[in-house]
Amino acid sequence: MDTTTKYLGLQLNSPIIAGSCGLTADVDKLEKLEQAGAGAVILKSIFEEQIMHDIRRNTQAVVDTDNYGISYEYIAQHVADDSLAKYFKLVSEAKKRLSIPVIGSINCFSYENWLTYASKFVDAGCDAIELNMAIMATETSTSADDVERTYTNIINTLRKSVSIPISIKVGPYFTDMAKSMQQLSWMGIQGLTIFNKSMQMDIDVDKLEVVNAPKLSNPDEKYNTLRWVAILSKATRCDISASTGVFTPIDVVKMLLAGAGTVQVVSSLYINGLDHMRTLNDGLKQWMADKGYTSIDQFRGKLAVKPNDNTSLWMRTQFMKYFAEIG
Ligand SMILES: Cc1cc2nc3c(=O)[nH]c(=O)nc-3n(C[C@H](O)[C@H](O)[C@H](O)COP(=O)(O)O)c2cc1C
Repeated sequence: MDTTTKYLGLQLNSPIIAGSCGLTADVDKLEKLEQAGAGAVILKSIFEEQIMHDIRRNTQAVVDTDNYGISYEYIAQHVADDSLAKYFKLVSEAKKRLSIPVIGSINCFSYENWLTYASKFVDAGCDAIELNMAIMATETSTSADDVERTYTNIINTLRKSVSIPISIKVGPYFTDMAKSMQQLSWMGIQGLTIFNKSMQMDIDVDKLEVVNAPKLSNPDEKYNTLRWVAILSKATRCDISASTGVFTPIDVVKMLLAGAGTVQVVSSLYINGLDHMRTLNDGLKQWMADKGYTSIDQFRGKLAVKPNDNTSLWMRTQFMKYFAEIG
């Protein structure tokens, strides 16, 4: 059974990838994920603020930290001074011990000096970079154009400073998702990861405090990912990596049928343990054997929206069927 696939121009033994999270910040765990059949690993992100902190510490340069406010103070006080050095040590250690691709990850939100450091990810040995663009239009003064300009500026600058493949991880909130994703895919990036999950907030009514909502996904969250993978996989010019809500081998199969190049898992590894990666791979192979498929490309994208399809009509038809079934 051939589950090899190409992602970001890299050769993978499996389309199932360990997504960026705390589990991927530990080389022993990365090794276990490789042994359980992960096609690649995406390391836990380093934050833009950590990079800025490092730039300031190392160069004594006057860095404008106004953008960072409280978060910068947090980083300055709580993050070890050598956080970037530690990150690059993680990359080189992972590269030494793993034979699958190691993808570095940066969590960023602004077009800032941190971009000058991106080339160090290449020096450290990353096979590719996933840029988690944690940009939410929460300010009433920010327009959709402002947000898009930030994306464009970051991608253009990053492309000039690094030679390795770049993947952009985006959140699910765009006013014009299909158009925006298509335009991003035309900017010379190799991949789009849909979707990132931003921190969800909750309120503690006893302490009268804002607190974090549960961090892990639930299986129902896959449906939004699935819809957009189906719509975007043939409308974009780069690989699509499906992320959020994937728990079972059949979830993986659905994302591939919708056209995903790869499928990322995080919450399911936290809940079921690292060996769940093996269960996902075995289940994918079993499904392929049951259906008589011998390679991923024989069925990938079979249920994607086709380039000449009228997507609105396609969605409307699904919508009508949905309500017809409810009766
Ligand atoms: C504990 C935890 C830590 C995470 N850390 C990161 C991170 O450092 N960088 C990142 O891009 N995403 C991070 N994520 C988001 C995941 O990569 C993923 O996008 C999200 O959990 C949705 O996938 P899932 O439904 O498989 O969990 C984290 C998620 C969790 C649960």
